[in-house]
Amino acid sequence: MAAATNVDSLKVVVGVAGGIAAFKAPSVVRQFTEQGHSVTVVPTESALRFVGETTFAALSGNVITTTVFEGVDEVRHVRVGQEADLIVIAPATADLMARMAMGRADDMLTATLLVATCPVVVAPAMHTEMWHHPATVANVQTLRQRGIIVLEPAHGRLTGKDTGPGRMLEPEQIASLAMLAATKPRAFTRDLEELHVLISAGGTREPLDPVRFIGNRSSGRQGFALAEIAAQRGAKVTVVAGSVDSLPTPAGATVISVETTREMEAAMNEVAPTADVIIMSAAVADYRPETVITSKAKKGSDSELTTIKLVENPDILAGLVQSRTAGVFEKQPTIVGFAAETGDENGTPLEYGRAKLARKGCDVLLCNVVGDGKAFGTTDNAGWILDKNGGETEVEFGSKFALAAALLDSVRQLRN
Ligand code: C5P
Repeated sequence: MAAATNVDSLKVVVGVAGGIAAFKAPSVVRQFTEQGHSVTVVPTESALRFVGETTFAALSGNVITTTVFEGVDEVRHVRVGQEADLIVIAPATADLMARMAMGRADDMLTATLLVATCPVVVAPAMHTEMWHHPATVANVQTLRQRGIIVLEPAHGRLTGKDTGPGRMLEPEQIASLAMLAATKPRAFTRDLEELHVLISAGGTREPLDPVRFIGNRSSGRQGFALAEIAAQRGAKVTVVAGSVDSLPTPAGATVISVETTREMEAAMNEVAPTADVIIMSAAVADYRPETVITSKAKKGSDSELTTIKLVENPDILAGLVQSRTAGVFEKQPTIVGFAAETGDENGTPLEYGRAKLARKGCDVLLCNVVGDGKAFGTTDNAGWILDKNGGETEVEFGSKFALAAALLDSVRQLRN
């Protein structure tokens, strides 16, 4: 599989199969065109029963072909397949995956897939029963063995009133994962199966009164990216989420929503005993008001808000490390902390990161540089992965998904 080197302008093929989730395929196309990539949409005949050719042609700016008998003068399936840097199939139906597993080439999409050597990302969408059917399970396994990245679908509302696993991931998730697949297909190696990964994400908020709080800028993006990649690598994932931007739930993850640091601590401690990996990526409020005012505080020079006495919150990460040492967990989890550092005249962000790794007693610490609009709320991130054995890996500026994959690589390596 040939990974792309220049990710600024990829030739992306968006394959669309005939399932109800095809109505979201135009948004998938948009995700790529807005990032400056050139998109060729290849729908199946049945996909066009859900979304018209005109929509795909207008959004992609490229001609739409469903059979190999169109564009024959240029042998279009061969050209499109050979030129593609990335193929994303959204949605992929059970039928399309069966045809792919068989190596059939009975339409433009399957023929193109047989020609292509680039990373192929498949976003399944079907009813839970079809997803769990032994035939589909076997086909997914076959495709994964061939290096095709078959994404785990989301749990959620299906076509009818029912819910369950089988819902297509949101276009934004598909695009982020596919962009990582384009450059680093091995980020999707299914090496976390059997592991339970517990991740804290977002920021905690400490109420001052019923309408005001002390909080921080965390968007939850890095924690959700970690959850997303861990789930795609086969892990069972639990996310304890404080305040986060409106982000789609990572595929199959259980999300426990909390507000304050003490609520986050309680939720982490409850799940931690069965976790194999614990990642504290949340931006935790270190202090909380000593007293919470029960009714909305009034403004004015004599307002109770002019002087707020703060008390220190528990350090959740340090507490988890202590519990592990005390042997109260069923397993010996690998514990990962985060450090957002600015550096100052006394030390670089990296020096502060090393000191923090030692102080907190965790196994791995992701140290990133913040300030000047870096890290918080953005989709990109950079940093160093430090481990307790002195290992130090620099992660260059890139997507939070790429950083998540690199961090999970380090965790996997350390556990080996
Ligand atoms: O000490 P500092 O806040 O820089 O440490 C950051 C790391 O510690 C992060 O992993 C964060 O989630 C965790 N932390 C915590 N409880 C706190 C403060 C930070 O678990 N009260």
